Amino acid sequence: MYLDDLSTPCALVDLDRLEANAQRMAEKARRLGVRLRPHVKTHKCVEAARIQTADAFGGITVSTLAEARAFAAGGFTDITYAVPIAPRKIAEAANLNDEIDALNILVDHLDTVRAVEETAASRSTVLPVFLEVDCGGGRTGVDPESEATRALARRLAESTVIDFRGLLTHAGHSYLTRNRSEAFETACEERNVMATLAAELRDLGLEFREVSVGATPTMRAIDDLTGVTEVRPGNYIFFDAFQSTIGSCETDEIAFSVLATVISVHPEHDRAVIDAGAVALSKDPGPTHVNPDCGFGVPVALEDQHPLPGLRLTALTQEHGTLSGPGVEALRPGTRIRIVPNHSCLAAACFESYHVLRGTEVVDEWRPVKGW
Ligand SMILES: Cc1ncc(COP(=O)(O)O)c(C=O)c1O
Repeated sequence: MYLDDLSTPCALVDLDRLEANAQRMAEKARRLGVRLRPHVKTHKCVEAARIQTADAFGGITVSTLAEARAFAAGGFTDITYAVPIAPRKIAEAANLNDEIDALNILVDHLDTVRAVEETAASRSTVLPVFLEVDCGGGRTGVDPESEATRALARRLAESTVIDFRGLLTHAGHSYLTRNRSEAFETACEERNVMATLAAELRDLGLEFREVSVGATPTMRAIDDLTGVTEVRPGNYIFFDAFQSTIGSCETDEIAFSVLATVISVHPEHDRAVIDAGAVALSKDPGPTHVNPDCGFGVPVALEDQHPLPGLRLTALTQEHGTLSGPGVEALRPGTRIRIVPNHSCLAAACFESYHVLRGTEVVDEWRPVKGW
């Protein structure tokens, strides 16, 4: 089967690019002396995770317990569930932790620590736990400056039913940067906040092994991870229009796109419509802080995937995507086009399967994990 045979809209993975992205990140982690524990939420496919971990120690990061279950069934035995755990999910996590080497869970509040201790004690087991730290992203994680953080870390380190694995952070604010040098600043901040806190906690006598950081823009920018033991980038396996706009990747590294068909043309109104709308591309607004006119994704040529200059995806409704700009007049109903989404993790999650390509040949079909 070939690109030309596929029904639209559908998700495409460029296997050559994906393999190159995996290899480049594995090499960088090795060069910086840290373990690579890739976040697999970007694709949620066992096949892609095997490629990412071929040159690493084998651990992965997930964003749902459904992913944890599916990847455990696929042979992954060291998994970090990198979202603060909901107290009612602790028992399910403990069940899975019994079946594999480790299902590491995250906490950032004393109530959750108490709930983890209760579950572990009731099962006469020890649960592996990371303390999530807010290194500037302002989403989840404890304040690295506060005394309460030191008290919580002590509680984890001294608990007899918790294996305190270490500190973990995600520099979500690296997505607010505009170029590689700004991402470098954020990456240094991420590393320094974590290395400083880890040193202070160790000076207090607390013992733990890991200092885990991870985001694609910071990992692409950083050149020294002294004080860090592990990295968890995820988006780098696909990249997307957001990453290329903020200088985190080149356009020819982007390995994920959505194939669409033109279904309506109105050149007199500077408009053509494709059959990929918000439920195929997601409605991520993209890097508007760099380019307010970025639209909802980047139209690229069907075969060589070069961005089509001037053509913009200006509006999305559920099943319609509106293209405008130079080049619209050349489109006809039935013309096929690829769209690089603003955020590949969200766009990929719209699909039941991805068509995996070598050039224009479809060589495989991968089915991502669904649900929570
Ligand atoms: C906790 C955590 N770790 C790692 C990552 C991976 O970051 P990125 O998608 O920038 O590679 C994410 C992404 O959201 C995350 O939430």
